[in-house]
Amino acid sequence: MDYFNYQKDGQLWAEEIPLADLADRFGTPLYVYSRATLERHWHAFDQAVADHPHLICYAVKANSNIGVLNVLARLGSGFDIVSGGELERVVAAGGDPAKVVFSGVGKTAAEMKRALELGIKCFNVESEPELERLNHVASELGKIAPVSLRINPDVDAQTHPYISTGLRDNKFGIAFDRAPEVYRLAQRLPYLAVTGMDCHIGSQLTAIDPFIDATDRLLALIDTLKAEGITIHHLDVGGGLGVTYSDERPPQPSEYAKALMARLVDHRDLELIFEPGRAIAANAGVMLTRVEYLKHTEHKNFAIVDAAMNDMIRPTLYQAWQDIVPVVPHNGEKVSYDLVGPICETGDFLGKDRELCLETGDLLAVRSAGAYGFVMSSNYNTRARAAEIMVDGSQAHVVREREELAQLWQSEHLLPE
Ligand code: LLP
Repeated sequence: MDYFNYQKDGQLWAEEIPLADLADRFGTPLYVYSRATLERHWHAFDQAVADHPHLICYAVKANSNIGVLNVLARLGSGFDIVSGGELERVVAAGGDPAKVVFSGVGKTAAEMKRALELGIKCFNVESEPELERLNHVASELGKIAPVSLRINPDVDAQTHPYISTGLRDNKFGIAFDRAPEVYRLAQRLPYLAVTGMDCHIGSQLTAIDPFIDATDRLLALIDTLKAEGITIHHLDVGGGLGVTYSDERPPQPSEYAKALMARLVDHRDLELIFEPGRAIAANAGVMLTRVEYLKHTEHKNFAIVDAAMNDMIRPTLYQAWQDIVPVVPHNGEKVSYDLVGPICETGDFLGKDRELCLETGDLLAVRSAGAYGFVMSSNYNTRARAAEIMVDGSQAHVVREREELAQLWQSEHLLPE
């Protein structure tokens, strides 16, 4: 559930503010987030596992605006990061480094050093060379690095191939069969402390079974290791819980947690870590865009809007479907439109074959835009990136200003005379 609803005046609001007012004040394209929705989604995870030791580590990549991170940090959230940049954002947002887990296949020595200095909770290591490097960096600092190994459980997440990560031929994680020997290596290296085990099998999962299959495999591995004297203190089940973009019915965090807990009866002291990104942020945001032109051709009707694939690339990149709704609906005949942007690419569309009643100047909201929206935007076609607004009740806070054109080439240089 989210706090973007049509109110009595017939208009779409964010919490206690009409979205049309925000578009007038701040211009379009515009990302608008709802604090109450972010908090609600975070609490849904936290409460789902309330009676078990746990940590919710929001996946920063889904939406890394420091205003968003700050809202979650104030709730006591942990964070899942994948770069030194995300680590600095967490710090800038007031997040606690001791609640940070560091994922990703390509951590540099500099990133490891900074994370060790800040004292993060755990490095989610994905290969043996990474273990060796981490051991070396930790030795130079005279620190012990807490380590989890990302295990590839070889289960099919049944999601889009680009966001499926738990199969054998993915670049991610350590093959299940090789895990014991890699754990032995981690145990031997003097500047590492084995603390956990993690996995992340994919994103936008709408069924519980793949999660449970992966968990069962990992729990079996934890038992094998225990018999060898290697104790795992936390199990990080990754992110990946899907959301409703159209008619998907993904499990609620409470249903997911219940199914997990049923598997953990023999592992009551194992701390559980979740890395949700999309499930917290996606439906906590919309992107507003205005219709510039209506263009009718023999075969198609196009609504050319002022947002483009540089602002929101998911439809182009994954053929993702996101709901697009009028902010101020009006009566009239609905026509099927392709909603396209001004970029010079055929793939520049936000939605196809949408039944809408439109006039030039109308305001549209692309829903479920809070995750993998702004963070994946670019300056392609020298388009300045959108502003981002956080609505909190009747207040609207600018959490990112609209980019000025001159900023786009301020770090570029002409050749010498
Ligand atoms: N943990 C790890 C290690 C991950 O790689 C990811 C996402 C997450 C957690 C968070 O997953 P979530 O709960 O958000 O599903 N750009 C794509 C999604 C890429 C996800 C990459 N990894 C999209 O727009 O659908």
